[in-house]
Amino acid sequence: MSQKSPPMVELIYYSHSISVLNAEDVALILEGAREKNSGMDITGLLIYKGGCFLQVIEGPRDKINQLFQSISHDARHFDITLVCYRETDRRNFEAWRMGYLDEQALAAQDLQVGNLDALTASEARNILLDAASLEEVT
Ligand SMILES: Cc1cc2nc3c(=O)[nH]c(=O)nc-3n(C[C@H](O)[C@H](O)[C@H](O)COP(=O)(O)O)c2cc1C
Repeated sequence: MSQKSPPMVELIYYSHSISVLNAEDVALILEGAREKNSGMDITGLLIYKGGCFLQVIEGPRDKINQLFQSISHDARHFDITLVCYRETDRRNFEAWRMGYLDEQALAAQDLQVGNLDALTASEARNILLDAASLEEVT
């Protein structure tokens, strides 16, 4: 009997940072995120602009659920709004344990993204997919 692999999901949310974060604050988030994501087979992309985060995480459903629990209790941001949670059979962000783009990186590539809150699921996904094609992703 063949073993079915657990369903994979894509989760997208946006949120507001508690204060304006400097490069060191963000580096701290990314360092922990990349290490933990690697152990959970999670990939994704994080954008920080105008005091807002927009993040996509993709991976096994149970791991994504577990991670989103942690992220939603993280005191470094608030007003966390889930915009997309769906099963998927392919990753769009497999190159990154957590890719990152800030305002400067977006501006350098002339990627007009507007405000990162009040987005629909398709607007949010399009921004993240456009951003993923930039060389600036670290
Ligand atoms: C905007 C933002 C994005 C984050 N992204 C991730 C992530 O992709 N992976 C991760 O493990 N932690 C991420 N974190 C950190 C988690 O919220 C949490 O601190 C970390 O997973 C440790 O949680 P634990 O103490 O429940 O193990 C993020 C935090 C913030 C504020």
